[in-house]
Amino acid sequence: MKIILTGGAGFIGSALARMIINETDHDVLNIDKLTYAGHLESLESIAESDRYQFEHVDICDAETINRIFDEFQPGAIMHLAAESHVDRSIDGSAEFIKTNINGTHILLEEAKKYWQGLENEQKENFRFLHVSTDEVYGELGEDGFFTEETPYDPRSPYSSSKASSDHLVRAWHHTYGLPTMITNCSNNYGPYQFPEKLIPVVLLKALQGKDIPVYGTGENVRDWLFVDDHAKALLKVVQDGVAGETYNIGGHNEKQNLEVVHTICDTLDELVPKEEKYRDLISFVTDRPGHDFRYAIDASKIERELGWVPDETFGTGIKATIEWYLQNMDWVEAVTDKNYNLERLGTKK
Ligand code: NAD
Ligand code: DAU
Repeated sequence: MKIILTGGAGFIGSALARMIINETDHDVLNIDKLTYAGHLESLESIAESDRYQFEHVDICDAETINRIFDEFQPGAIMHLAAESHVDRSIDGSAEFIKTNINGTHILLEEAKKYWQGLENEQKENFRFLHVSTDEVYGELGEDGFFTEETPYDPRSPYSSSKASSDHLVRAWHHTYGLPTMITNCSNNYGPYQFPEKLIPVVLLKALQGKDIPVYGTGENVRDWLFVDDHAKALLKVVQDGVAGETYNIGGHNEKQNLEVVHTICDTLDELVPKEEKYRDLISFVTDRPGHDFRYAIDASKIERELGWVPDETFGTGIKATIEWYLQNMDWVEAVTDKNYNLERLGTKK
């Protein structure tokens, strides 16, 4: 298959690009704007493959997207490009609206034009996979899980921009017949995650001997999924998923934030022992505005219909992640250089 991948220089996109090149026969054309979150350093191991190509493109540039569809003639597009950080969406929502909503609209329109020009099997087999988040469903209390039927109730600028894009994708299927699919996934973690998200922030603050910021009481719950398990699920969906369907993807690894922070601190005590315990650095800070309490995914549909289950438990995945960061501090320095220094985000009114 020839696949256009958007956002392939980001955290999940680069894991997917590496997996496509290393574990399948597909060709991939990565289109990415290289924002603060996109880094070609994450793709060095596959950059020389003759099945991999990169174009430095903003998905809001309709003319260039049109040219790329025309020249590359893809069998599928996997759309991951987005502004992805909730805290940044609180500080400023404009880029989230532009990329997540307008950018998705432009991709849908250009994909529709291209798909309408295809014939027979090529037209029938074409897929537009839109990668979204469980945050579109809102928050859960102590009990229950998000299913594909849970009503949308997004609460942050980020999640409402993703919800808007999901609605556009479904509308392009229902109105024009474009063979779209949507996945809604829980919190990812693993190598190459930009250090603005909880796990790399905690790890790097701890290694620097700085306060580890835990928002509110640390009792909020997230359902953690190892990034390669997510990439495997996305490949299953693009290869075998049914047009018009939605698939929830989750890790069966619900943890309170404080438990995640404790696990990282205790693992560092083993791997990089210091006189003081890393847990002593934990500092409870002002809560995130509108902080969703709990997310948890019912992933039984993708398991039943496509045979996907995650391989990693939180225990194995977090150890591998911590070891990867310890061995790849040059990557951390390269991607944070000049544009971010682990400062607190998401407090602007
Ligand atoms: P990320 O922030 O690490 O990467 C986003 C990538 O998109 C970057 O390479 C960036 O340069 C690129 N990009 C941003 N704006 C662009 C534009 N206008 N044109 C072209 N490229 C642009 O994000 P991630 O964590 O890898 O998330 C990927 C996707 O998965 C997003 O759609 C996100 O909403 C979704 N998602 C993420 C998680 C998670 O836990 N990280 C969970 C569920 C869903
Ligand atoms: O659920 C899927 C979503 O998961 C994705 O759609 C988003 O793109 C991704 O960023 C993630 O969103 P979260 O807001 O859940 O992730 P984050 O890592 O920012 O925060 C995880 C939890 O940890 C959340 O409850 C806030 C808290 N937190 C976060 C940071 C950065 C802290 O306590 N301290 C921190 O420094």
